[in-house]
Amino acid sequence: MVEKDLIAMPETHPIRIADFGCSTGHNSCAAMQIITEAIRRRFEIEGLISQLPDFYVYFNDKVTNDFNTLFNSLPRERLYGAAGVPGSFHGRLLPKAVLNFAYSSCSLNWISEVPKAVLDNTSPAWNRGKIHYEGARREVREEYANQYSKDIESFLDSRAEELVQGGLMALLVPAVPASWDPNSAYTSTSELYLFGSCFMDMAKTGRFSEAKVDSFNIPVYFPIPQEFKAIIERNDKYTIERMEVLDNPGKHNLTGPKDRAAYFRATSEGMLIDHFGSEIIEELFDRYTKKLEASPLFSDPDCDKSIIMFVLLQRKPESYCSAS
Ligand SMILES: C[S@@+](CC[C@H](N)C(=O)[O-])C[C@H]1O[C@@H](n2cnc3c(N)ncnc32)[C@H](O)[C@@H]1O
Repeated sequence: MVEKDLIAMPETHPIRIADFGCSTGHNSCAAMQIITEAIRRRFEIEGLISQLPDFYVYFNDKVTNDFNTLFNSLPRERLYGAAGVPGSFHGRLLPKAVLNFAYSSCSLNWISEVPKAVLDNTSPAWNRGKIHYEGARREVREEYANQYSKDIESFLDSRAEELVQGGLMALLVPAVPASWDPNSAYTSTSELYLFGSCFMDMAKTGRFSEAKVDSFNIPVYFPIPQEFKAIIERNDKYTIERMEVLDNPGKHNLTGPKDRAAYFRATSEGMLIDHFGSEIIEELFDRYTKKLEASPLFSDPDCDKSIIMFVLLQRKPESYCSAS
């Protein structure tokens, strides 16, 4: 039903797709291949293959992303033309009403900035001695949650401008369950707590000051499903076509503590070097790997209770939006 809606828009030639937070392409290329193939097959089934429009894919990530690697890894056999769109997906990136399909996978957990109050030693939300909200004061988590909510609203508003009316948006959103037992399970946030403890251990040995740790927090947030749904419903520019909670599909890909630490290093190293300098990195990840290895919980991927939400939204026609 949904694919038919997408291809039945006569005024939208070519079909334009965008991947927000594409990184260097490994997963993005596979996703774009699946999406364009699925639409092509639909045209074939409907006997409309002669009318198949061109496809165009916009690959978005931050300006610092390695777009050269991405373009080098595009498959030779593909159905689409490609363009890079550097910039933050929390704001507008594309012209009005050009997109038929927006996609984002495992990227919306990055917030646009660390909430200022958690770095402010005069604030009740000051996050002293920690680098994230897990295990921190309630005020710290609230600051993160507010920032996340503002950022997702900006993302939804920006995409609502860029999508054609009736256009679709598929999101894979890293999240956590509403509760889990920390004695028998862990999630992405518990991993950040463990990682954060390595910084204070290093500060205590004099590698850097505790103040250096206090002035650093990681800008990621993992909502619970109900929280994410409430943000979408407040926005009012989309209908929720589908929302499913998936078990973290990648948890068995990381086969041990060394893998987990290496994965985390790949996603966070740049930011850590910017704040602490490159000379601490080896020791930091060595300590982190040892802590993961020492924990029976973190050594067992079956204890990982992190989840991914699959959310399919459809842009409402303008006249159906109460506040637009
Ligand atoms: C974990 S990677 C996900 C990559 C890919 N989508 C996948 O599914 O494997 C998260 C990506 O989101 C990007 N990202 C984070 N914040 C962003 C923002 N505000 N605007 C654009 N990209 C952003 C990061 O640079 C990173 O490449």
